[in-house]
Amino acid sequence: MTNLDIFPAPTSATTRIADRRFRQLVRTPRQAAELIRTDATLAVSGFGGAGHPKAVLSALADLADAALRTSPDGRQPYALTLLSGASTAADLDGRLAESGVVASRVPYNADPKLRRQINALDVDYVEVHLSRLAQQVREGYFGRVHTAVVEVAAITEDGELVPGSSIGNNQAWLDEADEVIIEVNRWQPIELDGAHDIYQNTGLPLHGTPIPLEHVDQHIGRPHLTVDPQKVVAVVETDLPDDSPSFTAPDEASRAMAGHILEFLDHEVRAGRVPAGSLLPLQSGVGNVANAVLAELANSSYRGLQCYSELIQDGMIELIDSGVVSFASATALALSPAMFDHVKRNISFYRDRIVLRPQEISNNPELIRRLGVIAMNSMVEADIYGNVNSTHVNGVNVVNGLGGSGDYGRNGYLSMFISPSTAKGGSISKIVPFVSHVDHTEHDTQVLITERGLADLRGLSPVRRARVVIDNIAHPDYQPLLHDYLERASRRGGHVPHLFAEAFGWYGRFERTGSMLSR
Ligand code: COA
Repeated sequence: MTNLDIFPAPTSATTRIADRRFRQLVRTPRQAAELIRTDATLAVSGFGGAGHPKAVLSALADLADAALRTSPDGRQPYALTLLSGASTAADLDGRLAESGVVASRVPYNADPKLRRQINALDVDYVEVHLSRLAQQVREGYFGRVHTAVVEVAAITEDGELVPGSSIGNNQAWLDEADEVIIEVNRWQPIELDGAHDIYQNTGLPLHGTPIPLEHVDQHIGRPHLTVDPQKVVAVVETDLPDDSPSFTAPDEASRAMAGHILEFLDHEVRAGRVPAGSLLPLQSGVGNVANAVLAELANSSYRGLQCYSELIQDGMIELIDSGVVSFASATALALSPAMFDHVKRNISFYRDRIVLRPQEISNNPELIRRLGVIAMNSMVEADIYGNVNSTHVNGVNVVNGLGGSGDYGRNGYLSMFISPSTAKGGSISKIVPFVSHVDHTEHDTQVLITERGLADLRGLSPVRRARVVIDNIAHPDYQPLLHDYLERASRRGGHVPHLFAEAFGWYGRFERTGSMLSR
């Protein structure tokens, strides 16, 4: 039976809730929000701005605003610990930040308002590899989960939940939370039913079983999420769109970086390390640069590629349209509004070319290694030895967070990190003597790319790596400074030569003078 048998075209507010038990629980967003305790640990759906709850948490922010106005001591009574799959959007993270109710955020945030509170130390922020969070919650690292708020596309006659545009940690949240609130969003395309693959592997290390996924396009689990109906305290109906980030159009630098990547992949094929034609499954990270690189793959001669990634972004849909990609596996469909409309209009075409899985599977290190994923992620900066910073500007202020970059960056068959060679109009070199924050160590990164070229670090000792990095990918304005640093540090000896005060002095120089170039 397909979704369409169960859910004919929705004509009334209740047609997407086929199970009578759940219909009786329909509440307004405010009524549902009133069920959430002020010190709750809340586990919400949402990944890359896709599939997050869009009504209950805004209603909770309204309640918090009202509570603050009448608070006898002038303090906000709400202090929430917020767990999610990954980023949500302005109507969740942003709205809660406006009300000042987030005490702690795990594992990833991309909202600018919450970012400011994190960098001001007003919010505790715990970055966790996205593949690991569900396991850590099951094992109690974050205490009890009081309430899960999960958005779905529909509820079937027998109480199963039809997922929407993201899976993330939803099944784990539904299993672990004491109470569950479900948002049934009519905006989510019910026709995606069947494109989800819910597989849980919840045993402690010695009790786990191998995950039986051998092919990117394989389904190994169930199409629907499940929940114990006894735990469901409210069901809220909505009709609200996702809010995934839009990207800037690819510029000359991104096209150059994409060109270097394509040349490198051709080289790997010729060397017999990557299969000709289909390559190996591709993963592409978040951000403008990664999206632009994907878009440029459309101009390659490759056809029938597969993607094993956490996000399906606009660039990947364009590759499916052009036949470059034949199948994409991810945990979220994080598309701009225009691209989502395009996918909705052609849903039967995409349903056979897409699968959405729990993030424990999309980002699983063992699967990424075994499937031989080619990982391409953006970075904030890299150092001459190959350490990569994906998260903290000047080592201090977080941009977004680690996300899945470690899951893919460490375990990919080929691991590439990409960035323009400078930031802020050339006043910052993204290639530095020593990164100001380490997310990916020199042992994990293999290939670094800027618009200047590509540094293949495989098989090289630290000093040889440093020469390749400076010569191939640093901006010419900074090459003399970096060579000079390496030579003077090398004269003092050591396996990884450094002059620490000077290395970190690059950041102080930028702060003092507005440029890393100034003396
Ligand atoms: N110093 C100072 N500022 C820097 C900088 C540096 N070394 N590198 C980047 N920035 C600034 C840019 O100037 C830009 O600021 P602006 O918005 O004020 O112009 C901002 O940071 C974003 O940079 P941009 O070059 O547009 O990067 P992006 O959109 O491609 O994103 C990351 C790059 C690293 C922030 C992003 O990829 C990320 O969050 N990665 C971590 C998570 C991840 O990789 N997940 C993927 C797993 S699937």
